[in-house]
Amino acid sequence: MNRTRIISVLTENYIGKTVTVCGWVRSKRESKGVAFVALNDGTSQDTLQLVIPDTASAFKELHCINTGAAIRAEGLIKKSPGKGQSCELEVNGITVYGNADAEKYPLQKKGHTLEFLREIGHLRPRTNTFGAVFRVRNILSDAVHEFFQKRGFIWVHTPIITASDCEGAGDLFTVSSLDFEKLPMHENGDIDFSHDFFGKRAFLTVSGQLEAEFLALSLGDVYTFGPTFRAENSNTSRHLSEFWMIEPEMAFADLTDDIKLAEDFVQYLCSKVLEKCEKEIAFFQKFYKNTSIEELKDLAEKPFTRITYTQAIEELEKAKKAEFEFPVKWGLDLQSEHEKYLTDNIFKGPVVVTDYPKEIKAFYMRLNEDGNTVAAMDVLAPKIGEIIGGSQREERLDILKNRMTDASVPVKSMEWYLDLRRYGSAPHAGFGLGFERLVQYITGMPNIRDVIPCPRTPQHIRF
Ligand code: 4AD
Ligand code: MG
Repeated sequence: MNRTRIISVLTENYIGKTVTVCGWVRSKRESKGVAFVALNDGTSQDTLQLVIPDTASAFKELHCINTGAAIRAEGLIKKSPGKGQSCELEVNGITVYGNADAEKYPLQKKGHTLEFLREIGHLRPRTNTFGAVFRVRNILSDAVHEFFQKRGFIWVHTPIITASDCEGAGDLFTVSSLDFEKLPMHENGDIDFSHDFFGKRAFLTVSGQLEAEFLALSLGDVYTFGPTFRAENSNTSRHLSEFWMIEPEMAFADLTDDIKLAEDFVQYLCSKVLEKCEKEIAFFQKFYKNTSIEELKDLAEKPFTRITYTQAIEELEKAKKAEFEFPVKWGLDLQSEHEKYLTDNIFKGPVVVTDYPKEIKAFYMRLNEDGNTVAAMDVLAPKIGEIIGGSQREERLDILKNRMTDASVPVKSMEWYLDLRRYGSAPHAGFGLGFERLVQYITGMPNIRDVIPCPRTPQHIRF
């Protein structure tokens, strides 16, 4: 089927050319013997205006077309005399592929709430908002690969089904082919996973890091970009049970290299959105007011503030206690309200917090000289909080073993991880960027459920 995309018609010079476009009708109106149809095909923030004089044979077909119909239109592209568009299509012929029931089509012209649109997740990509979100998501995904490929990182594919719990937080989904009606049991009442598909218990991955570590300790600099799963019961505007994570891992690198990579990465992604999605960002700026071109320019250019966890606690203690619901005390984890206070009120921009107490971070993070803190770093973004979590990894065998024992990590099943410290161990570091949190930050969408096509959250799964 030969068709021209509407983005091409609107951004390249098509005036005087005959084209065929296909798309969905956003609206239709008639005035003084001429009908106008606004057509969108998902490629552009803007619609193409179709103009059909009542003398044209296509005018007859137009009467039966409703908002939401899928059509094909042929005609001549002309300079538009009207406001709001530079060109329009003078229609010669129309084909209606599928009309829409005018009474029942849920996307009427009036604005809908994001909550309502979540209930019609299969139709919401046809709206201005979700078209923009998914186009921005596409540009960002592409830019991820561009960034790492330009720097010589090797794209590795870590598994989705795994036997290990990377974060040690226990928020894992079990993957099983056992018959739930007839579960094999041990005498003590536990399920006997030796009868399961893999001969032992398996999970959906929470992070590709552990596997990325052995690939980095062979290939140098690597990255993964894949779905990750967490069965944590968090019903917030920034948690999903299935989300995408980008995880670079670098051999012969320390925490400073890691922070630099994270800053360059976020800035690169941001600059690509500014370059390729100006219309979409302008739309978010106008209708949601949580992002702006100026803010993104700042983000793409200004260095991030860097502070240690200890300094962060000092800053937060200076703030009035009444500001926070959760306590601020050295040794306790930063809550989202504390993170936002640092980015939005104190430093007014992204903040990298380093050197957290070892008790609140994962076993694999490198122990600092002080024996109390680890070489961790979190990148906090205004309005969102944590978008990146990373660290230099513990490369010293004995210290790592002790940390695993302290954190009750099953050392026996992790011998392969310890081997990396036995044979040619090397300093290495990496991080994980939560892709949806970044899309949320850049678009200013208030809820993470609105930046992924099919959100999975506790008690909710569709499609
Ligand atoms: O801080 P996290 O748990 O770090 C890791 O998983 C490391 N293994 C990464 C690494 O060093 N390779 O998660 C990383 C990021 C968070 O900063 C956050 O942006 C995102 O993943 N994230 C979530 N995003 C959406 N929904 C959730 N439930 C998330 N949990 C974490
Ligand atoms: Mg984290």
